[in-house]
Amino acid sequence: MNNHRSRLSAAAFFVLLGTFCVPPSTFDVSARVHAQAPAVQAAAPATAGSARLWDGRNEAYETFIRAADIDRFEDVPIGVTHPRRAYFKPDGLVASVAWKNIPPGRPNGFWESYKSEIAAYELDKLLDLRMVPVAVEKKWKGETAAAILWLKPIHPWKEMEPKPKPETWARQVVRMKMFDNLIGNPDRNAGNLMVDDAWNLFLIDHSRAFVGTNALPFKMEHVDRPFWDRMLALDEPALAGALGKWLDKSTIRAILSRRDKMKSTIDALVKKNGEAAVFIQ
Ligand SMILES: Nc1ncnc2c1ncn2[C@@H]1O[C@H](COP(=O)(O)OP(=O)(O)O)[C@@H](O)[C@H]1O
Ligand SMILES: [Mg+2]
Repeated sequence: MNNHRSRLSAAAFFVLLGTFCVPPSTFDVSARVHAQAPAVQAAAPATAGSARLWDGRNEAYETFIRAADIDRFEDVPIGVTHPRRAYFKPDGLVASVAWKNIPPGRPNGFWESYKSEIAAYELDKLLDLRMVPVAVEKKWKGETAAAILWLKPIHPWKEMEPKPKPETWARQVVRMKMFDNLIGNPDRNAGNLMVDDAWNLFLIDHSRAFVGTNALPFKMEHVDRPFWDRMLALDEPALAGALGKWLDKSTIRAILSRRDKMKSTIDALVKKNGEAAVFIQ
């Protein structure tokens, strides 16, 4: 039986994503990105209103989330798989996490696993993307789950969609699409995008990512060169080192096969339209 997400048609999917993600054939950020500063730098310090509190402190956050006692759980009324929110005792490094215990499998005909949540975070780190919140495996009272840092201050995309966007926005959207293509994530709907008060875009809900095929969920149109260079540098040993605990060999090879498909698409686009039209400035 299909659940709600799996029944979304392509058209409904892009309607859900709102104005910044209209159908790929018409989506064009070039006019905006040419005017922008070299945004979203890897080593940028946390700015006011940023929810990226773990920057430069990943290990401390990972260790805390793994070790801390859970004080209580709350149901999360949004979404489809209905994760819970787990609260730690007050005044610790982290206040709460999303608790996703989906076992690896195809409960609704679609690949789904709590391990994909952790693999997405580990790959985000390997690529220095900094858009996926800290996610670790945590065992608690006989349950094993992905525990994912609950972002704060944060707004769902739907709340931010009508507001004017800063110049840094378009590059983040380009990176999001590149990342979703690399990880084979068919589930980037509006509920899975979060934005903080500094207009940093965060990506959540990767339980369906890391499919075994080389299908690319987003049409490739624009490319962020520094991020692409890091994707090009990926190879099987690097991926196995970072993700081997969460993904099997064939799933890791599927990442590289999607990367290679992205490369042939990008090469063809550059040949047809020229580098300036493809690589955002
Ligand atoms: N790490 C997080 N930080 C803030 N809000 C979150 C986080 N994870 C989940 N949420 C909230 O819970 C909702 C459902 O979680 P999600 O991981 O998308 O599960 P589902 O599979 O049910 O869609 C999200 O749309 C978001 O509103
Ligand atoms: Mg979701």
